[in-house]
Amino acid sequence: MPPEESIRIVELSEENIGDLCFLCVPSERLSDSSFMKGVELKKTWVKDMLRRWGPVAKVAYLGETPAGFIQYVPITDEKIVYITCIFVPRKEHWRKGIGRRLLISLIEDMKCPKEWFGGEPPLALVTKPFPGEKPGQYSARSFFRDMGFQEVEENPSILYYPFKPDFKYIPPEPEELNYIPQGDDRGKAVILYRPSFCPLSYFFLKKSEQEIEKAIPGISIRWINSSEEPAEAEKRGISEGIIVNGRLIRAFVFDRATFIEEVLAALKEE
Ligand SMILES: CC(C)(COP(=O)(O)OP(=O)(O)OC[C@H]1O[C@@H](n2cnc3c(N)ncnc32)[C@H](O)[C@@H]1OP(=O)(O)O)[C@@H](O)C(=O)NCCC(=O)NCCS
Repeated sequence: MPPEESIRIVELSEENIGDLCFLCVPSERLSDSSFMKGVELKKTWVKDMLRRWGPVAKVAYLGETPAGFIQYVPITDEKIVYITCIFVPRKEHWRKGIGRRLLISLIEDMKCPKEWFGGEPPLALVTKPFPGEKPGQYSARSFFRDMGFQEVEENPSILYYPFKPDFKYIPPEPEELNYIPQGDDRGKAVILYRPSFCPLSYFFLKKSEQEIEKAIPGISIRWINSSEEPAEAEKRGISEGIIVNGRLIRAFVFDRATFIEEVLAALKEE
């Protein structure tokens, strides 16, 4: 294990946006254009968050090498800080205390008063880890559990770390994605995307496009960047998602069979 002092935790700033975003890129994806487009969209998201909220990530360095990050956003009406991701990508950096240092740094930071919450500290850190670990890598979910996060009773996929022992986090009802059907969207596929905290969002939309093209050869596919064409997103009531023949596809491309089944069923509908 390296001496603790060789791990440096640095707040997000204009100077280390590149380090934060490139930590998401596995070396074999450096020449993958859809992954790199996802990285550009993450950079746009980070710049917007930095302008709006100030630093919303911490980057860990081993010497001069970026080795991991934790990123988060304040949810002001719930008075919580939502952790969108923690990641220590490279095997040679695992189990050296980097993830722990990142999380402890966030916990210490959030014990202080925050302008985000009218000069008070948040009530809790909240996260819903998704299984993004590499083969052999420790999962974010197990890590947060080890670090003292509790499961939300009604929805154990959500974990939280209260700053007061008696605080119980009750998540709000999840918002239903309500697509407003458009005549324009009939007979084609429409893919809406936007800047995102994770490069994988765009990458998976590209994978979805490939599956749609295979399932329905020759189908016309329209891509809409919701941040550049906000009126197009607004009239559809969604800013990210896949529409086939005027139907919102709810299956995720990971579950390929269900995804294709839903795409083909949408095509048949009047
Ligand atoms: C979870 C993760 C952040 C941990 O980072 P790390 O720097 O390796 O973790 P640390 O060395 O700080 O370990 C902290 C504690 O976590 C637990 N832990 C971490 N790795 C572990 C492992 N392989 N086995 C058992 N416990 C482990 C231990 O409790 C450890 O404390 P200890 O070493 O004192 O016993 C890292 O493994 C990771 O990035 N996983 C993937 C997360 C992910 O999917 N992110 C989304 C990507 S898109």
